[in-house]
Amino acid sequence: MNDHELLKIAFEASKNAYAPYSRFAVGAALECMDGTVFTGCNVENAALGSSICAERTAVCKAVSEGQTRFRRIAIYADSPNYCMPCGACRQVLAEFSTDMEVLCAKSGGRYVSYRLEQLMPHQFKL
Ligand code: THU
Repeated sequence: MNDHELLKIAFEASKNAYAPYSRFAVGAALECMDGTVFTGCNVENAALGSSICAERTAVCKAVSEGQTRFRRIAIYADSPNYCMPCGACRQVLAEFSTDMEVLCAKSGGRYVSYRLEQLMPHQFKL
């Protein structure tokens, strides 16, 4: 699967975002080493701190299905800015590998690509 195909899946996932408070819909598509793709969207809550980002939704779906080896994640938001993963999502992704690619897209589908190591050097480890 090429980057654009994975980004399209993230775009489609953003349509399921539950974001009545921020009105900022995010979609993620997390590709595992075996090619399986798990999607995620942000799921907000009236108790705002109980909200979860699209990336962490995708990671939780993958891990709960037995997958922990990830190759790429695509993140999309209908935004003028590239949708970069927040700090908490970087830490959660880095739990599994800092070698994965992170594709960050904005409205219209343009994107930037990083290795997670660039975005999350020196992550916390026990
Ligand atoms: N959000 C994500 O889903 N992923 C990110 O990486 C950044 C922020 C969500 C959280 C919240 O529902 C909304 O975007 C606005 O912050």
